[in-house]
Amino acid sequence: MSPDYRTPRLILAPLKGFTDAVFRNTFAEHFDGFDGALAPFVTTVAVDRLTEKHVQDLLLHRNTRMPIEPQILGNNADDFIFLARRLFEMGYAEVNWNLGCPFRPVTKKRRGSGLLPFPEQVDEFLDKTLRALPGRLTIKMRLGRNRSDEIFKLLPILDRYPLKTITIHPRTARQMYGGAPDLDAFQACLDQSRHPIIYNGDIADRQGFLALEARFPRVAAWMIGRGALSNPFLPAAIKNGGEVVSGKVLKFKSFYEVLFARYQERLCGPGHLLDRMKGFWKYFAAAFKNGQVLERQINHTFKLPNYLETVERFFREEPDWRD
Ligand SMILES: Cc1cc2nc3c(=O)[nH]c(=O)nc-3n(C[C@H](O)[C@H](O)[C@H](O)COP(=O)(O)O)c2cc1C
Repeated sequence: MSPDYRTPRLILAPLKGFTDAVFRNTFAEHFDGFDGALAPFVTTVAVDRLTEKHVQDLLLHRNTRMPIEPQILGNNADDFIFLARRLFEMGYAEVNWNLGCPFRPVTKKRRGSGLLPFPEQVDEFLDKTLRALPGRLTIKMRLGRNRSDEIFKLLPILDRYPLKTITIHPRTARQMYGGAPDLDAFQACLDQSRHPIIYNGDIADRQGFLALEARFPRVAAWMIGRGALSNPFLPAAIKNGGEVVSGKVLKFKSFYEVLFARYQERLCGPGHLLDRMKGFWKYFAAAFKNGQVLERQINHTFKLPNYLETVERFFREEPDWRD
C-alpha cells in the first residue's frame, strides 16, 4: 500500500530491533495510515570505519513501500557530517539527529539524551554540522536527561538554526518509557519554539490521539511507535475517522506470516529468529483479548518448533481482537 497523505500526518517511530526495512515494508503492504517512517538510528563511526553494512537497512531499493528518513546517533560533528553526506548521496533529502536515546552506555558518552544537559555542546555541534550538510536536518529529542526543564535552555539555541522539524517525546531519559508523558511541558515547548514540532509518546488508541490533537492544534505531525505494533490498525483508524474494520485477526495473521517468512529468510539461525519473534509478540499480544496468556506461553518456548506450534494453536483457536 502506498503512503497515506491524508491529514493528520502520521509517522512510524524508530524502534531499534523492530522497525527495520523488513518490518516497515511488510507493515505498509498490509496496513494503511502511515505517511512515512523515521528509521532506527545508525551510530557515527570514525570516518575510516564506515562500511556498507552500516547503511544497508537504509538503501532505497530496500525501502520501497514507505518513505523513510534516516537517523544518526553521535556527538562528533566530523563523523556525523561524513555519515550524513553518505546518506544524502544515497538519495535522502534530510537526516535526523538522535537526542533522545536514554540508555546509560549511550548517555554516559554524551550521546542521545546524554547531550541534553549540555546546551553549549549542542550549539557547537549544530554550528559546525549545519554549515557542512548538503541537506536538511531534523531532531528527535526528550525533555531532558535528568530533568524535564533541560529542553528550555536548548529551544532558543535550536531556534537559531534552520531545522526542518523537531520531534519531542515529552519524557526525561530517567523516566525511560515509564510514567506519563509531560503534556504541560510539551505545550511549553510548542510555545517556545519557532520550528514545526512533531509529537511522540504513548499514542495507543484513536480516543487518546483525538484528545492530543484537540489540545495541541499547532502540532505538525504525530509519531507512533509501540501503539502501532500493539494495534497495527491504529494509523488507519486515525486517518479514516474510526471506520469499523472487519476480519482484523485474519488480516493480522497474514501480516504476521509474511513478516515471519521474511525474517526466516534474512536472519541467521533459529535462535535469532525466535528472539526476534519473541520481541514482536511482547507488543503483538496486546492486540488480543487473551494476549497475556499467549505472551507467557511464547516466552516459555526455547526451540523454534515449540514456538511455531504455540502460535499455530493460538490462531487455530480463533482469538478475539481486543477492540
Ligand atoms: C525498543 C525500542 C527501540 C527504540 N529505538 C529508537 C531509535 O532507534 N531511535 C529513536 O529516536 N527512538 C527510539 N525509541 C523511542 C521511540 O521512537 C519513541 O520515542 C518511544 O517509544 C515513545 O513513543 P511511543 O509511545 O509511540 O512508542 C525506541 C523505543 C523502543 C521501545
